[in-house]
Amino acid sequence: MADAISEARPRVFVARIIPELGLDAVRAVCDVDLWEDDLPPPRDELLRRVAGCDGVLTLLTDKVDDEFLDAAGSGLKVVSNYAVGFDNIDVAACARRGIPVGNTPGVLTETTADLAFALMMAAARRLPEGDRYVRDGHWKTWGPLLLLGPDVHGAAIGIVGFGRIGQAVARRAQGFGMEILYHDVNRLPDDVTRPLGATFLPLEDLLARSDFVSLHVNLSPVTRHLINAETLSWMKPTAVLVNTSRGPVVDQVALATALRDGVIWAAALDVTDPEPIPMDDPLVGLDNCLIVPHIASASRATRDKMAQMAAANLVAGVRGQPLPTEVPPPA
Ligand code: DGY
Repeated sequence: MADAISEARPRVFVARIIPELGLDAVRAVCDVDLWEDDLPPPRDELLRRVAGCDGVLTLLTDKVDDEFLDAAGSGLKVVSNYAVGFDNIDVAACARRGIPVGNTPGVLTETTADLAFALMMAAARRLPEGDRYVRDGHWKTWGPLLLLGPDVHGAAIGIVGFGRIGQAVARRAQGFGMEILYHDVNRLPDDVTRPLGATFLPLEDLLARSDFVSLHVNLSPVTRHLINAETLSWMKPTAVLVNTSRGPVVDQVALATALRDGVIWAAALDVTDPEPIPMDDPLVGLDNCLIVPHIASASRATRDKMAQMAAANLVAGVRGQPLPTEVPPPA
């Protein structure tokens, strides 16, 4: 009667439609409750849906904390985040309950660096303003002084956070003949920085010397509002700030003031605090602030790879196996 005692399939909640490759891999092993709306599940619905699940696949919009874990119950075996960042997850709370957390490192490095570079170029060369100018019918002739901006090639770029993505940005900057400066909590070994021609500087010096500043730090209590009124005042009045990390790394009130008063020249943001940015936020009204909706990893190929990794973590977790890419639990 071996057939009759076949094991129940694990139950999982998947908090949004992710690329089919990932969903197929999960469905092959688990019974899937899929949240099909474009918007994230409201909190009460999320807590209701995760109750009794063996695994959950979450996004950066879903907060996983003690309340979530209580709602899920003692059967929860894994939290798989469809992102490399995991600041939406209380990893310590998961660790206390023996629940591993998975993320998707590595696969979005180059795609995110592409967008950081695109934002830098677009802000410097005023692409959104140029596009609006044409569509609004203002283009009458070639103008010697029309929409001038700084050169990117040959300029100094300051990369704050010199991990995988920061280094990928540096590789692109090399191709543009830029001077590459970096800041990180620790100075990186020469065998990493020498091939990139990257020079370590304390944050104040880096901000003072850079024409472009690109942020690539994790969000933590230390990096929250790392860019604030004081640190903005260290930057050049001609500088461009690019943020593809997390919105709260920048104090947005201070940034709006700095952009309005000419403390810095322009900013380009993939991430804001909160997301979405409220339409009455002062940054939305500024021509020298380019804002896109958190799309740094949004290439088809990368989102497919993220889906496969998140699925692999979820499936391993419900089977009680080590996750292929587990967020290290806090010491
Ligand atoms: C991440 O993975 O952390 C990005 O912010 C979204 O891809």
